[in-house]
Amino acid sequence: MRTLLRFITCGSVDDGKSTLIGRLLADAGRLAEDQREALVADSRRYGTRGGEIDYALLVDGLTAEREQGITIDVAYRFFATDRRSFIVADTPGHEQYTRNMATGASTAQAAVILLDASKGLLTQTRRHSHIVALLGIRHVALAVNKMDLVGYSQARFEALVEDYRRFAADLGFKSLAAIPLCAVDGDNLTTRSPHMPWYAGGSLLEWLESVEVEEGRAGAPLRLPVQAVLRPHADFRGLAGLIEQGTVRVGDALRVLPSGRDATVARLMVGETNVPSAQAGESVTVVLGQAVDAARGDWLVAAAEPAATADGFEATVIWMHAEPLLQGRTYLLKAGTRTVMATVSPIKYRLDPNSGERLAARRLALNDIGVCGLELDAPIPFENYKDNRDLGGVILIDRLTHQTVGAGLLHFALHRSQNVHWQTLDVDKAARARLNRQRPCILWFTGLSGAGKSTIANLVEKRLYAEGHRTYLLDGDNVRHGLNKDLGFAAQDRVENIRRVAEVARLMMDAGLIVLVSFISPFRAERRMARALVEAGEFIEVFVDAPLAVAEARDPKGLYAKARRGEISNFTGIDSPYETPEDPELRLDTAALGADEAAERVVGYLREAGVIGG
Ligand code: ADX
Repeated sequence: MRTLLRFITCGSVDDGKSTLIGRLLADAGRLAEDQREALVADSRRYGTRGGEIDYALLVDGLTAEREQGITIDVAYRFFATDRRSFIVADTPGHEQYTRNMATGASTAQAAVILLDASKGLLTQTRRHSHIVALLGIRHVALAVNKMDLVGYSQARFEALVEDYRRFAADLGFKSLAAIPLCAVDGDNLTTRSPHMPWYAGGSLLEWLESVEVEEGRAGAPLRLPVQAVLRPHADFRGLAGLIEQGTVRVGDALRVLPSGRDATVARLMVGETNVPSAQAGESVTVVLGQAVDAARGDWLVAAAEPAATADGFEATVIWMHAEPLLQGRTYLLKAGTRTVMATVSPIKYRLDPNSGERLAARRLALNDIGVCGLELDAPIPFENYKDNRDLGGVILIDRLTHQTVGAGLLHFALHRSQNVHWQTLDVDKAARARLNRQRPCILWFTGLSGAGKSTIANLVEKRLYAEGHRTYLLDGDNVRHGLNKDLGFAAQDRVENIRRVAEVARLMMDAGLIVLVSFISPFRAERRMARALVEAGEFIEVFVDAPLAVAEARDPKGLYAKARRGEISNFTGIDSPYETPEDPELRLDTAALGADEAAERVVGYLREAGVIGG
């Protein structure tokens, strides 16, 4: 049977990529529509949707992104010879290249890296090679194109290849072929070149037809993520999914992850047919012999060789969004069909894609590739990306816009979760609330500097105190002198500033207090994170609203004036954004209300909400 090879071509502008792909398609033969369909159906991983071929499915790991409206500029082209069928991912070289290349490379088994013989190794060549390596492609052909421009020189070719081999030595490629080409004339593309008798190897097409990329996943331990729980009638419960790795047989001992419960395989079906066994690449339905809970997103694994589960990882992150990834910010992480929350713990480094050097970083900008920690709010089963690209790849999604903002390649578990357990205490929040005769909560004042947050919060606290309530006021300026004195005003510092104060506020609330927090807290994402730490009704967002012009005219600390003079940077409202609350519990217009009146409104709200007694 004709096998299938998925590969990606990478080149910089002008080094002949379109000519090369165009000629391959023309010489090798484009696929007729029906052949394409067969090929896509053969390509077991993907299959069809409702009888129609959905080419978007070929985008695999990042398909979800497409559904969420991210533009991915990858053209998939199809061609075939007698020996193999090919899907080539063609990605443009413009500034969004990282996202496109990552998408194209995530399903590719091999890469053709193009080089212009007259120009040699470019920055772009090195960047592309790093991404290809990172995404787990282990078979590479270096296509040294435009050999006609260097007089078909063997010496030039060999010098370039040596340069490249030296550069690629650390990239972990299993095979690296180098082919001198002239794509416009077709030399060594589909047929051997008469101009380079010194070259003993085959054409690029011969390499594509013969390169061995088989991954042999059937022999590895079973990994079967559950895509659906089927319950056509009361006495049947099947777990359906695609076997990502290994083989499953009737009678096998399996474990359900992350719950860790064991069960045996009572029955196995491919479609409607009972089968004794099935292997990687097949979609199956498993009926377990025991009534063990399993849900969509769980994994069925070999009980003897289970996958690990963890809620903290080191991962390589490829950032694909104009808004940078910030250390300390929380994103949604999607691993297969499972979605959890993930907070970026320290960024260890950013890769210089040119040299591969590790650079210090606290944020990742568009196209950046970095290594960081990810702390999840629930454990997930996982495989190292190096061992299994399908199981070790995750995507990061913005919590507010639901756009895909990054791709993550999991390295290993950080061992926090196994050893630190949440301690349940007997004297709890409810008990303290009864004793204090108040409902503890967090009153979160947000707004521009000079809007009046601290003044109002201070008045509110005085009134509560006068009524005998137990309170504490956390004020940005004060907390920044102690707990947060290591933080400045860059976006990632503000994220961390809010994360810490939100955690402190939660502890104080748990201690039974009404906690007043007065921080600019300019970003919606972090206010939302703070809200999510506590239960519904416990987080009261008070938007202290004053137009920038009003706050600036007040300028109680003279900071706006300094910011305008350029003496301080990242000043909220001037050269750092303030994201207005969309749905605060209270909005106080301090251009219209006096401070006392504003405080009165807050206390009134607390009474109505039952936080304090009438
Ligand atoms: S936040 O943005 O991280 O929530 P926070 O409330 O802790 O800010 O601190 C704001 C206070 O720091 C302001 O009231 C002001 O006194 C002071 N400050 C100093 N530099 C800046 C700046 N660049 N932007 C905003 N506030 C600043």
